[in-house]
Amino acid sequence: MSNSVEITDKRTGKSTEMPIISGLLGDPGIDIGKLNKELGLFTYDPGFVSTCSTKSAITFIDGDAGVLLYRGYPIEQLAQHSSFIEVAYLLINGDLPSPAQFREFEHHVTNHTMIHESLKLFMNGFHYNAHPMAMMVGIAGSLAAFYHDSLDPENPEHRMITAIRLIAKIPTLAAACYKHSVGQPYVYPKNDLDYCSRFLDMMFSVPAEPYHVNPIAAKALDLLFILHADHEQNASTSTVRLVGSTGANPIACIAAGIAALWGPAHGGANEAVLKMLNEIGDKSQVARAVARAKDKNDNFRLMGFGHRVYKNFDPRAKIIREMCYKVLNELGIHDPLLEVAMALEDVALKDDYFIERKLYPNVDFYSGIIYKALKIPVEMFTVMFALARTAGWIAHWLEQNGSGDVKIGRPRQIYVGAPSRDYVALADRSGP
Ligand code: SDX
Repeated sequence: MSNSVEITDKRTGKSTEMPIISGLLGDPGIDIGKLNKELGLFTYDPGFVSTCSTKSAITFIDGDAGVLLYRGYPIEQLAQHSSFIEVAYLLINGDLPSPAQFREFEHHVTNHTMIHESLKLFMNGFHYNAHPMAMMVGIAGSLAAFYHDSLDPENPEHRMITAIRLIAKIPTLAAACYKHSVGQPYVYPKNDLDYCSRFLDMMFSVPAEPYHVNPIAAKALDLLFILHADHEQNASTSTVRLVGSTGANPIACIAAGIAALWGPAHGGANEAVLKMLNEIGDKSQVARAVARAKDKNDNFRLMGFGHRVYKNFDPRAKIIREMCYKVLNELGIHDPLLEVAMALEDVALKDDYFIERKLYPNVDFYSGIIYKALKIPVEMFTVMFALARTAGWIAHWLEQNGSGDVKIGRPRQIYVGAPSRDYVALADRSGP
């Protein structure tokens, strides 16, 4: 059996064979690299619904079966047994660390958590009500100004130290964005705390009194970070790879990823979900919200519902959904928005509109309820997503830039503009 497809242009009768590339799991792809040269044709796939941009060994998603693997390990098992720092190591290095490797990696991350004091001058330049994502997009990229000596994508030592610095410093920047927004002093990272406890301390401790991290909150945060750490070639990861393909330094690539994540169709959805649940208010308004989501004349969408790849339950949503109950009970919190979310899910999943379109709750549908229980303000939700996804972004950047054959990403287009025409002098132009 030939491992290829034959493409025939019926307008000209010309044909060509294109090889089929198969990976270990998932659908194979047609290598169309020579299509334009042989048939003078492009492929056209807005939103890249059926387009693979690269080969990758980091994450596998089966959208129909609701499967998510990080380096082959099921997300359910990592959620139950691992930690975010260990998952970051796994995504970057390809295997779970030995005890010695884990200690070394955790030591390196812990000892790179401080940021240059000058960065506070940048932070203080923001207006007090600046959106934390606006601050993150600006301040993350400016980290590159402090590491001129170690940003060469072709230098393996530079690649690894920058990966460590980003995983270590993004939480410090994120917490600083929050502190700036509430007018409180920045809190230095405490190296005797674990990754998530350190972040919560930087977020919520104040000089005026001792602060004790709630271990339930730290554990919940660690689980949310594991679930958000990577997700194959999503929009922000594809952005990181495209920017990386130009040879831009890794910090610039991560800053681009943060910007891409901000959109409400992507990482900004978690903030949009909380706003939507608050707007719905209580269970009695759920049917009206579902009706609005189905109304083509209403641009209202059920935020946190639907996914380009998952046409079944997002496995991360399932885990977070179960976590909601556990964390709220353990923290002794009753949040009526959880009931609104559950009622919304219940009504939507029985509605033909959602069933036909295979629209299920995604990772963003329930995460905000837990962030809210941890007293993280809604404007910080996407910052939390960016903090966790930095591990995946840098893993993809390392996979791309460690391969030795980075090809600049340069898609083509179908031109639908004006035909070639001659310039008309201003004095000779008519019209209003
Ligand atoms: C993330 O890619 C990733 O992996 C992303 C992510 C990650 O970890 O990186 O998983 C994180 O971004 C999750 C998605 C968060 N976004 C939202 O929750 C926003 C709400 N959802 C959508 O806008 C939408 O579902 C997308 C953007 C997530 C997916 O869009 P697609 O695949 O382009 O699907 P589509 O917009 O073409 O919708 C198909 C149909 C349309 O109806 P018809 O035109 O066929 O009649 O479904 C409808 C849409 O109108 N639809 C919805 C809907 N989502 C899709 N209708 C109501 N509410 C929704 N949420």
